[in-house]
Amino acid sequence: MCGIVGYVGSKQACPILLEGLSKLEYRGYDSAGIAVYDGNKIDVKKARGRLRVLSDMVDGGQNVKGVMGIGHTRWATHGEPSDVNSHPHVSSSGRFAVVHNGIIENYLPLKKRLMEKGFQFVSETDTEVIAHLFEYYYKGDLLEAMTKVLHRVEGSYALGVLCSDYPDSFVAVRKASPMIVGVGRGENFIASDVTAILNHTRNVYYLEDDEIVMLSADSVKIYNTDREEIKKEIFRVNWDVSSAEKGGYEHFMMKEIEEQPKALRDTISPRIKDGKIVLDEVSLTAKDIASLRKIYIVACGSAYHVGVVGKYTIERMCRIPVEVEVASEFRYHDPLISEGDLVIVISQSGETADTLAALKEAKSRGARILSIVNVVGSAIANASDDVIYTWAGPEIAVATTKAYSTQLAVIYLIAVYMAEKLGKLTDEQYKNLISELSALPDKVAEILKNKEEIQYLASQFFSCKSIFFIGRNIDYAVSLEGSLKLKEISYIHSEAYAAGELKHGTISLIEEGTLVVALATGSALYDKTISNVKEVKARGAVVMAVTAASREHTEDVCDYVIRIPDADELVLPSLSVVPLQLFGYYVASLKGCDIDKPRNLAKSVTVE
Ligand code: G6P
Repeated sequence: MCGIVGYVGSKQACPILLEGLSKLEYRGYDSAGIAVYDGNKIDVKKARGRLRVLSDMVDGGQNVKGVMGIGHTRWATHGEPSDVNSHPHVSSSGRFAVVHNGIIENYLPLKKRLMEKGFQFVSETDTEVIAHLFEYYYKGDLLEAMTKVLHRVEGSYALGVLCSDYPDSFVAVRKASPMIVGVGRGENFIASDVTAILNHTRNVYYLEDDEIVMLSADSVKIYNTDREEIKKEIFRVNWDVSSAEKGGYEHFMMKEIEEQPKALRDTISPRIKDGKIVLDEVSLTAKDIASLRKIYIVACGSAYHVGVVGKYTIERMCRIPVEVEVASEFRYHDPLISEGDLVIVISQSGETADTLAALKEAKSRGARILSIVNVVGSAIANASDDVIYTWAGPEIAVATTKAYSTQLAVIYLIAVYMAEKLGKLTDEQYKNLISELSALPDKVAEILKNKEEIQYLASQFFSCKSIFFIGRNIDYAVSLEGSLKLKEISYIHSEAYAAGELKHGTISLIEEGTLVVALATGSALYDKTISNVKEVKARGAVVMAVTAASREHTEDVCDYVIRIPDADELVLPSLSVVPLQLFGYYVASLKGCDIDKPRNLAKSVTVE
């Protein structure tokens, strides 16, 4: 979490930093700050609250003069959100200003030692030790001080550091937290993610762990911790600038919901060639696939929910056992992984701390890692054997929609690809599944044409105190996501249950008027789920069903029915999730919630 941006050039830095931070607010938004070298000293402004508080404080950047600076938007870990805990943190003399994303795990012993040496701390943060360590180690050479600091700190960090002795340049480094370097003409940048600098340049360096960069207006030099210069390749980002802008939408979330047909098309169509699924990114041979004993899927949050669909889908199609687990559990339970087992890691950001740690744990036990990632060059992508990118483009809203959908599409591609390699599909089945996958973007677009229907339903239920989602098998997997979407942005308590499990306790919570959202999309389990619907109806529930166009008599049992286009059962989750995303969105909107930045959350979770 936390977003970092830095600039050096000939323009006024502060407005550029504020603009960059506005693109990074999704990473954390409980306070923000900037430090700008004003030609004489480092001027620091910071404030608790959203970026606009800081922006008002500096009059949109007009009040702070200088052509080099760093900025930060925070998601508090050490110390409450407050002015004093906000970044940048400065050393006692004011010579150094530091912004940090990550966690310094050994900050307490470092802080103790520095205090014994007379350094005074003003904040509760782990970051402040870095500012003082720079002061402690600095003997006139900023790069040397940086390497000494890096030798002392443990944990994860992306750092941007200004030193008032260096009027024309600043340094940055990363380890297990993201940081890219933007290379412009007569100006250079650092940022936690490319969206922050896309308005200025598309040429970037992706830094590896512990690569140190020194930037001035005209040069970018990258060093290792022995202070030897490293040559790296510049990468050209082809994301559209508008993809990181709201483009007339009230919220990024709705824009991203609407972008799903395109994101699905971009993810699926390049991988279908001449009627075959081609996964050039996957190095597993047919023989490797045939020898798989077990597959693990590991992820967090919504990406984990994709994994739950993946378990049903891959097991059904490939007949290979699949275990799906949240990364924060997987990494600590001594997983039973053997040499050559396949671990599929799913992550939008490619930097979720628990997911990355689980990946490393699996890798250290000899597993082969295939990851599904959205952010190119991210830590998870870099650490994997094979990466299949979801071409969703930047996702800014904290609640994921298009990344979830494209992850699901990649899971289908993998399942069908492997099933075909295993000889589990007839030619006709294979052809049919490919045409189902190709048709998905248009079917999602069709659902999006009926947004008003969902808006109406949201108007009926936005004052509910508690909402249940039920379904069986893949419908259950989608229920998990529908429930999370609703609760994370609307703050309505919600739970998802396997439809058959409700009667083992949870049904006691159903009372007159409780809303139950029942997913009954596939034909195989339709009647079973409808029986569960009858059970809750008999106890006073109001039922809103999501079902496929051709299922019959749903209206006879359910109070409200949302219909999605017919499709092969395999791909129905891609369709049924869309009304649930819209429902969560409209409920949150009617409640006046901050949809893109729900309380207490951050999009990119780089702490355990
Ligand atoms: C956060 C986001 C979720 C996301 C999860 C995993 O909690 O709000 O939308 O599913 O992290 O993130 P990742 O980037 O690994 O997919």
